Amino acid sequence: MSDARPAAVIVLAAGEGTRMKSKTPKVLHRIGGDTLLGHALRAAKGADAASTVVVIRHQRERVAAFIDERNAEANAPVLVADQDEVKGTGRAAECGLSALPADLTGTVVVTMGDVPLLTAETVSELTARHEHAGAAVTVITSVLENPKSYGRVIRDADGDVERIVEVKDATESERAVREINSGIYAFDAAVLRRELANVGTDNAQGEKYLTDVLALARAAGGRVSAHVLDDLWQTEGVNDRAQLADLGRELNARTCRRHMQAGVTIVDPATTWIDVDVSIGADTTILPGTQLLGATSIGEDAVIGPEVTLTDCEVGDGASIKRAEAHLAVIGAGATVGPYSYLRPGTELGAKGKIGGFVETKNARIGEGAKVPHLTYCGDAVIGEGANIGAGTIFANYDGVTKGRTNVGRHSFVGSNSVLVAPVDIADGAYVAAGSAITSAVDPGQIAIARGQQRNVDGWVDRRRAGTATADAAHAAAQTARADRSADQTGPASTPSPNTPS
Ligand code: UD1
Ligand code: CA
Repeated sequence: MSDARPAAVIVLAAGEGTRMKSKTPKVLHRIGGDTLLGHALRAAKGADAASTVVVIRHQRERVAAFIDERNAEANAPVLVADQDEVKGTGRAAECGLSALPADLTGTVVVTMGDVPLLTAETVSELTARHEHAGAAVTVITSVLENPKSYGRVIRDADGDVERIVEVKDATESERAVREINSGIYAFDAAVLRRELANVGTDNAQGEKYLTDVLALARAAGGRVSAHVLDDLWQTEGVNDRAQLADLGRELNARTCRRHMQAGVTIVDPATTWIDVDVSIGADTTILPGTQLLGATSIGEDAVIGPEVTLTDCEVGDGASIKRAEAHLAVIGAGATVGPYSYLRPGTELGAKGKIGGFVETKNARIGEGAKVPHLTYCGDAVIGEGANIGAGTIFANYDGVTKGRTNVGRHSFVGSNSVLVAPVDIADGAYVAAGSAITSAVDPGQIAIARGQQRNVDGWVDRRRAGTATADAAHAAAQTARADRSADQTGPASTPSPNTPS
């Protein structure tokens, strides 16, 4: 029954959305990694609609630009229809129809651009029920404790849907009805076209109501049925920022549940935010405070979190990332990242590699098993497999004018607190001594030492810091050393201190 496919989906998105109090059109506000309109389009696409039309008016350029951008990535382009100055959902649907072939037949589903949780399955099911019943119109309804300002579903003595009445036009007893119109319908294309032409604007709002099509279709002998949906979230619309947050949280809860059902452990779904396109392998564990965003994909058996934000990242099987931020980075299988690491675009960490605490990387390919464990900036670099970058190493990639590249060869070892001034090459199997400022190439097997020679000045503390605690300590140490020396010469052999190398 659910293999039915709508001939078209018309998404109504011309309304103003004033309660958002926003410069951004309502349908372009985002939850779960996509815009509200984007979610509506996913439902249409998932239901395999032959055509999809979005009806726009308010801020039409921005909404149309969003659709164009999306069309550039998709092979089934979404059509745009402009609503004119005639107001109302009926007019919007009519404008949507005008973008479709005049002889279109089959089922036309009407949805709304600000109802993001409606699923493709529900659109398919609505279409299937509608076609199975041979109905002229099928409307999705819900029974609510508080039916608020929704249109009320008026049924006849037999329980068939007779009409929908808007609250502003309703009598007291009609307002008491708790079954509401979700605003999502399946229509027979010919009936919709014919009856929209008969809809007037004689109502409290002076608008052309789409809901009037139901009574007209029935009067013309068509069957009007209802598809009662228990899952109220699916038909919930966004009108203000509080509802945006509520629906965002619910979408996230549903996304988390989907991953948990597929074998992912999510310790705290309430503080874990996962965008709808993210993929996660089985037996991966997500710890609290983690955000997995954009097109991020994570392999199996990984441990992500706590407090990790990944945007458009690729993470291999068995990797472990804690307290880190990464964008457009690739993290290899079995690699470890964090805590307190910042991976910027173009970071590629090889299998079993390590990026440790207080390390920032950018455009850096770090080989298999290579380690950048502590306090480093590593930009525009290639680091060979098994290399080790000492604590506090800085890849100085920018001279104020141009950016240069640094290569560190396989199994090479860069001592702590070195500066590698790009462009510079350190070959395979080479060493850099701690504290070096490297400005020219180091060949295989060499150690480069690029720092001032150590020089010790006797008696400096006594002369320049006389009377300080430091000077006192120096005197005491000198006295102890003298006493030890005379004891060695006169007394029995002293036991060596444990700190003295033997
Ligand atoms: C409409 C229904 C109401 C239903 C409710 C569900 C009508 C007359 N009433 O209410 O029975 O309970 O939806 O939410 O249809 N839109 C346009 N062009 C317009 C007006 C609206 O495209 O001229 C779009 C809006 O962008 C929105 C959708 O249609 O996506 C619904 O509009 P809205 O004003 O929120 O719904 P109501 O008319 O209040
Ligand atoms: Ca309205």
